[in-house]
Amino acid sequence: MLALALPSGRMLDDCVKLFESAGIYFPKEILESRRLSGTSGDLNFLVCKPKDVPIYVEYGTADIGVVGKDVLLEGNPQVYELYDLGIGRCKIVVAIPNDAKPEELFSKDDIIRVATKYPKIAREFFNKKGISIEILNLSGSIELAPVTGIADVIVDIVSTGRTLRENNLKVWEEIAISSARLIANRASLHIKAEEIKTVLKRLKETRQPQ
Ligand code: PRP
Repeated sequence: MLALALPSGRMLDDCVKLFESAGIYFPKEILESRRLSGTSGDLNFLVCKPKDVPIYVEYGTADIGVVGKDVLLEGNPQVYELYDLGIGRCKIVVAIPNDAKPEELFSKDDIIRVATKYPKIAREFFNKKGISIEILNLSGSIELAPVTGIADVIVDIVSTGRTLRENNLKVWEEIAISSARLIANRASLHIKAEEIKTVLKRLKETRQPQ
């Protein structure tokens, strides 16, 4: 039996579709109820918050998992990144108010307040640029921060761009591209090598070229 950790929220639907096209079917109780775990075939499915997926995999509760590259970059968990699944594509960006002038905003004398749920990624990016920042660590609705004036800029993920647009923000710089990755627990990769290879092979066969 292989345990698989999956992200709740918007990426779960894409996971269901991808896995189904690979002939791997989610347990009914997960699809039709609020149950967060269930078994289907020889897989045990666990559904958790996206940023908790690597924790379940690192600690070996799950042998493999699906998680965004953004979460891996931020947390740097001790797991193997096996494969880019090609779903959940987005960009990690620095966004600023539509009417802001970058040359004034990022003048080196000022400390910029950055709202984000990616403090490590944000700090590394601005450090490299030599721009002094203060991090405002928020959990979500990041785009609200510059609108209300609690922060100057944001570091966040952009998918369709709608949330930025509708909150009068624009991309200043792209930091990285993200998509969902299949990850594995280090020990499981040896102990359950064959089972993991089988799942990986099925997912690889089904992946659409981008
Ligand atoms: C994410 C992200 C942006 C939004 C971008 O938030 O933090 O707010 O999606 O998507 P878009 O470019 O398609 O508009 P999410 O919906 O995960 O919720 P959150 O604000 O609670 O983190």
